Amino acid sequence: MNILAIDTSCDDTSIAISQDLNIIANVSWTKMKVHSDWGGVVPSEAKRQHIEFLEPAINEALKLSNLKIENIDYFAVTQGPGLAIALESGVDKAKELSLKYNKPLVPINHMVGHIYASLAKDENGKSLSDVNDFEFPLLAFAISGGHTSFYKMDSHLDITEIGYTLDDAVGEAFDKVGRMLGMGFPAGVYIEQAALKGNPDKYDFPKPMLHTKDFNFSFSGLKTAVLYAIRKIIGDYDKNAGKGVFKLEDASKLLTQEQINDIAASFQKAAIETIINKTRKAIIEYNPKVLVVGGGVIANMALRKALINLTDELGIKLSYPKPMWLCTDNASMVAIASYYYIKKGIVKTNAKEIEEIDRIPNKSNL
Ligand code: KG4
Ligand code: ZN
Repeated sequence: MNILAIDTSCDDTSIAISQDLNIIANVSWTKMKVHSDWGGVVPSEAKRQHIEFLEPAINEALKLSNLKIENIDYFAVTQGPGLAIALESGVDKAKELSLKYNKPLVPINHMVGHIYASLAKDENGKSLSDVNDFEFPLLAFAISGGHTSFYKMDSHLDITEIGYTLDDAVGEAFDKVGRMLGMGFPAGVYIEQAALKGNPDKYDFPKPMLHTKDFNFSFSGLKTAVLYAIRKIIGDYDKNAGKGVFKLEDASKLLTQEQINDIAASFQKAAIETIINKTRKAIIEYNPKVLVVGGGVIANMALRKALINLTDELGIKLSYPKPMWLCTDNASMVAIASYYYIKKGIVKTNAKEIEEIDRIPNKSNL
């Protein structure tokens, strides 16, 4: 069966076409340059982009897969969580197509998409991440710009959250620290590059929530500790900033490249140690056969290595999306997750239930 999936949860307009689990087209376009005060995406700009890009991106994906829209058997769309008005453009487009071509629609939770990303196969049916199927019970771990969550799964789509972040997500912490260090957005990859050249033991940053018994995270204290370390290096930043309004990224101009690299390396080390420690506890508690990881932060090589070591040590398997584009937001993961819903018959078929599909957060709740 042919599935056309849409993800407009943030700043990428992403369209994928799959034949079952085989990805035959993945088109992700973005032109986001306008960021909010801490370096995040401006929702209204994202919405404008999605409206402009959706139609041509769908046409491009159909062209790449040599299919006509009439050949699509199911439409799938990210319903949330994400930027509300950005999600809305994708949901509206999916509803329009599903009603027009009289094909079922599968609404997908973005985090379920991230969890399922490692099951994507290439057009010849070869796994893109050396993972053929999940084994249960498993522990899933979603690490992105919005989430740091553990889930336990006893079978496909049977997903129970067992831990989450109480404040910033880990990717958000990378982005905010990156901004303090004068890096572009999203900053995860720049932190990783700077960390390669820095001394991870230069600063002893806190590893929050290490000793709590739950599986929750908190990254805002770590972020604040980085801010204090920068202040300590550059002195009273209000004076350094002169008369103008002080912007956080200006602090980085007062740091040497060596200091930036050391802060990046020490921050990354603290973030990874925090993650590894909690993941170890969760594996010991839930005794899963596999740890399945998804989300933009698993693009980080140092974290991958630490998770490989941890799962080797504890004798369980590790699944994560290997290609970078499958880690960060993409519609392929939405197509993959929808395949499992379709197999279970969990799809919206009649016009009334399709029309009622709302983004999450719901429009009516705002
Ligand atoms: O999954 P994703 O693309 O979007 C969300 O659903 O949020 O994740 C984006 C996050 C950003 O915070 C970005 O900085 C982070 O993933 N990220 C990384 C790396 N590449 C992307 N964090 C650390 N190291 C990386 N190499
Ligand atoms: Zn995401």
